[in-house]
Amino acid sequence: VSGYVREVPSRARRRGGGLGSRTARLSRSVGGLMQGVDPAWLPDGAFRPIGTRRTLIRGSGPLVDTVHGEVAEACERFGGSVSRAPEPCDLVLELTGDDGSEGFVLGRRDGCTTVTASGARGLLYGLFHVVRLGEAAFLGETQPAVHEPKLALRMLDHWDNVAVHPVMGQVERGYAGGSLFWEDGRARGDLDRVRRYGRLLAACGINAVSVNNVNVHAAEARLLTERLGEVADIAGALRPYGIRVHLSVTFAAPMVLGGLPTADPLDPGVSAWWAEATARVYAAVPDFGGFVVKADSEGQPGPFAYGRTHADGANMLAAAVEPYGGTVHWRAFVYDHRQDWRDRSTDRARAAYDHFVPLDGEFADNAVLQVKHGPMDFQVREPVSPLIGAMPGTRLAVELQATQEYTGQQRHVCWLGPMWSEVLRFRIDGESTVGASARGGLVAVSNVGDDPFWTGHPLAQANLYTFGRLAWEPGGDPHRFLDEWIGLTFGSAPGLAKGLRSILDGSWRTYEKYTAPLGVGFMVQPGHHYGPSVDGYEYSPWGTYHFADRDGVGVDRSVASGTGYAGQYAKPWAEVYESAETCPDELLLFFHHVSYGHTLHSGKTVIQHIYDTHFEGVAEVEAAQEVWASLADLVDPARHTRVTERFEEQLRSAREWRDQVNSYFFRKSGVPDARGRTIH
Ligand code: GCU
Repeated sequence: VSGYVREVPSRARRRGGGLGSRTARLSRSVGGLMQGVDPAWLPDGAFRPIGTRRTLIRGSGPLVDTVHGEVAEACERFGGSVSRAPEPCDLVLELTGDDGSEGFVLGRRDGCTTVTASGARGLLYGLFHVVRLGEAAFLGETQPAVHEPKLALRMLDHWDNVAVHPVMGQVERGYAGGSLFWEDGRARGDLDRVRRYGRLLAACGINAVSVNNVNVHAAEARLLTERLGEVADIAGALRPYGIRVHLSVTFAAPMVLGGLPTADPLDPGVSAWWAEATARVYAAVPDFGGFVVKADSEGQPGPFAYGRTHADGANMLAAAVEPYGGTVHWRAFVYDHRQDWRDRSTDRARAAYDHFVPLDGEFADNAVLQVKHGPMDFQVREPVSPLIGAMPGTRLAVELQATQEYTGQQRHVCWLGPMWSEVLRFRIDGESTVGASARGGLVAVSNVGDDPFWTGHPLAQANLYTFGRLAWEPGGDPHRFLDEWIGLTFGSAPGLAKGLRSILDGSWRTYEKYTAPLGVGFMVQPGHHYGPSVDGYEYSPWGTYHFADRDGVGVDRSVASGTGYAGQYAKPWAEVYESAETCPDELLLFFHHVSYGHTLHSGKTVIQHIYDTHFEGVAEVEAAQEVWASLADLVDPARHTRVTERFEEQLRSAREWRDQVNSYFFRKSGVPDARGRTIH
């Protein structure tokens, strides 16, 4: 994998969309498959172990054809053979039926590796599993072992706009250039890149994609009706890799598109309109996944306007897709974004629980409530949302954010695997985990765009890969997935994996250190959310305050004296979070307002913790940058250059964070740094 992309001067990149870099010009093609585009975790070389051997493929159908095509291409490149008739072989890939299942059985006996699946997607996942194993798949003997996903829905939500939005651009919170799907107000004519995207997603286990922004503007609304053909084309490009397409729809569609006087979910005319629209969707896209809905949230229309509940709204749509096996993903991100900062009783963190828990048991089986993993909005540190686990009679999907809106916008290295894994392994009632409670699946907001490296920052690909693997296996060790990603993407040059691990492993905690401290969150510049502004949201209608004064900082969310949010948790967490004495350090300021002299479990005072972590965070970025520089000879030059540039910006930004946060708290508290370092 060398020489596939040439960088353009950074000024041109900056012009191409502020924080993104979408104008990188492509130089020469790579190995037939990924012309001008980073092959990510599927470089040609990853197929060498299969491509040099003899493979027998049994079964029929479109996905078997995909598997056949993959193996045939590898054999063409590396000299092996593929056949559909019994011949001596090293690998058997066999589909025994098609029951819709996604698992496969992998074993090895008498010098032959076998993958058997009873569902077509299972065969595809089995193939990519063999790719992941590489030569190891063809060594020794192994007992047949079942591999199957723990979660049936493993989905990416694209916040892509069809038409460029005047404020949010082509991709809302997108840091990787334009959209893979949409350009100049319509679906891309050439969907080859979309097909390649589907291939990458299948290779890490993702099986569903929502193709447009949850904020549905005028052009995007029409994807449901007269622009359905464009959705069908995208679905056609993703189908060979087992990926179903979903659509974000506006709750007001019957009015906006159908000319009806109301969108009241209990109005028979409204449900009839949805039933008809849905029938047309399934006629065009028979394997359509369903609708994603952001209702009564940040200005989007919803059932509240008619005095109806969110269960009424979701169930009306669920009924429309039910005959076709579709699902409605109804988002729980509902809060008052016009609150008054003077009003101390309103707490944004409480909102989702307060709105939805009373509706438990009322949602249809195919209505999935999609809950952000934390109660706020994808901050670098939040507690797990108390809604998860509090609605046993409702199917929940957990939503993560791969796009790094609040975690460095793909200019900073921030591998989110450990954060997501902590969330998924969190025991909501001391026993059952978030991963096990996510019966409706795991969803991430995609971090991909039309950038040649897919994710802007090449190392941000690790987030996408890790997300897919965690969705397949929520209890899996994210470090294992990181190692897989490193091996596939970068190969096995000595020293390389160690260096990359040291850069990525702790990068989330490093980011946490130099940004907002101890779970307080939201010290970002309002609007675009990049870079520090300690008081940026302190007097804002969107909520999220830190209440710093000369004596202390943090939000009192206790039941005893605060907003009562801590009481939304099951035991033991309600008690653990209620008291500043038992609350974990990293969440202290999320749950409590404490003095600067308050001593943490770590033994440090809050103010000294703030100073120390901010100095440490910057030092860690400097160290990571050095490690990256030392890998220059082991990494493709284009990739190396891109990451080197990003590191320069990360370091500049980390220093800015350090100096603003430290100065702010020094000025508020008047407490000097015990170690006498420079604070401005
Ligand atoms: C955040 C983000 C918005 C997005 C919203 C959502 O608030 O900043 O751009 O629309 O989340 O999840 O709906």
